[in-house]
Amino acid sequence: MYTTLLTSLEDGIFTITINRPDKLNALNKDVMGDLDKVMDAVNSSAEIKSVIITGAGPKAFVAGADISEFISLSTAEGGLLAKKGQQVFDKIENSLKPVIAAVNGFALGGGCELALSCHFIIATENARFGQPEVNLGLIPGYGGTQRLTQVLGRNRSMQLLMTGEMFSAKDAMDYGMVNEVVAQDKLLDRCKEILQVIQTKAPLAIAKVIECVNHFDHTQEGYDFEVKKFGECFATEDKTEGTSAFLEKRKPAFKGK
Ligand code: COA
Repeated sequence: MYTTLLTSLEDGIFTITINRPDKLNALNKDVMGDLDKVMDAVNSSAEIKSVIITGAGPKAFVAGADISEFISLSTAEGGLLAKKGQQVFDKIENSLKPVIAAVNGFALGGGCELALSCHFIIATENARFGQPEVNLGLIPGYGGTQRLTQVLGRNRSMQLLMTGEMFSAKDAMDYGMVNEVVAQDKLLDRCKEILQVIQTKAPLAIAKVIECVNHFDHTQEGYDFEVKKFGECFATEDKTEGTSAFLEKRKPAFKGK
């Protein structure tokens, strides 16, 4: 049914595992298409009460959007990519069933944005977060400039978005981004334990909690502006240099052009 996802349903808890471990579960077009489809299935299913999103393998939740797909995109195509990505992540954020990100390793770029679009995050001790797009001559395009700022605040977000530096699960908890840090082998059990508690509550009340919390401090304008600015990056020489350097496994030499 899905080429890039593994799914399982147990006691109403639907676990979605992004399954490209050899590419650290990078979000290519197929993964984004599957995530879009699976969220429609979640929202229309009577059996699914709540959701866990995680990544296959011990190393990564998701190491970002698939950089190899960025190479030949125009400004308009870059903007469209961001718009479509935002639509998928909005579907996750606006799902009326609780969605936990179970972050089991690298959550970088689009992976960090995916985790932020879930209702909350439980992470393993080895989880590493970050928005490293500036290393590629890019900015986040799947809502990261907005959600990171909403969750972490302006100044911390400015620093993390400008340095592109990774931060640990413990730091992410100190920043208010991660709710709990657990051992790797306890991750899914802990998420299921939390969802079992939530599933004893009134589902319509839970849905309204999600709707109301999502109403807080959210303007569509910021997301649309991010799409425009993400697209503009694709007209720069630095974006070509940054993405080529990653794929060629070398350091980029940016020129500000
Ligand atoms: N897009 C495409 N491929 C990716 C990827 C991404 N975002 N992240 C990792 N991969 C691929 C690597 O190219 C490599 O493929 P290969 O084996 O065919 O060469 C494979 O996944 C394993 O990654 P590798 O870089 O060898 O692992 P590592 O342990 O040395 O480094 C990271 C791990 C996460 C630090 C490194 O992969 C990385 O920096 N990834 C990109 C992060 C990023 O910039 N994300 C934002 C994208 S907008």
